[in-house]
Amino acid sequence: MIKLNSADEMLKFGMEVSRSIHAPLSIYLVGALGSGKTVFARGLLAGLDVQDTITSPSYLVAKEHIDARIRAVHIDLFRIDSYDKFRSLGLEEYFDGTWVVICEWADRINELGFSNVIVLQFRTTGHEERSIEIDRVNVVGQSLLLEAILKFDYD
Ligand SMILES: Nc1ncnc2c1ncn2[C@@H]1O[C@H](COP(=O)(O)OP(=O)(O)OP(=O)(O)O)[C@@H](O)[C@H]1O
Ligand SMILES: [Mg+2]
Repeated sequence: MIKLNSADEMLKFGMEVSRSIHAPLSIYLVGALGSGKTVFARGLLAGLDVQDTITSPSYLVAKEHIDARIRAVHIDLFRIDSYDKFRSLGLEEYFDGTWVVICEWADRINELGFSNVIVLQFRTTGHEERSIEIDRVNVVGQSLLLEAILKFDYD
């Protein structure tokens, strides 16, 4: 289990992890409202040298960051309650293996694939304390990324 004691620590964790990311990769962020998914995503994207402001994409569903070191997309499926809606918004194309996908509320859509995927479970464990558990890992050639995550995983 990874423990983050403040939003700042969460941000730094995201930045640290993003240093060793390679496409294709999807990071599925799962956890309740306010558990820190967007803060983590912001850290990841900042580490990918994204220049524009990184807000929650909730209202947009998907925000592309093509100025990033690696073509990245930040998706939020909170309001997407069916696979039909997911498809009608054209979100499938982001899972074609050419993007780094950072997907909040990935558990909303059961049909999402699990190749090149890391699933992280976020929990609020205190006022400013959050935990992250690695729920599932199915990646090839991301050994540096896994190392970076495991460095923080001390339980
Ligand atoms: N250790 C921490 N890690 C991350 N965020 C923290 C932490 N401590 C406090 N916070 C605060 O908790 C909130 C987390 O919000 P965030 O938008 O990242 O959650 P979320 O999981 O994306 O929620 P949602 O499901 O609504 O998208 C922020 O206001 C942040 O400042
Ligand atoms: Mg969020």
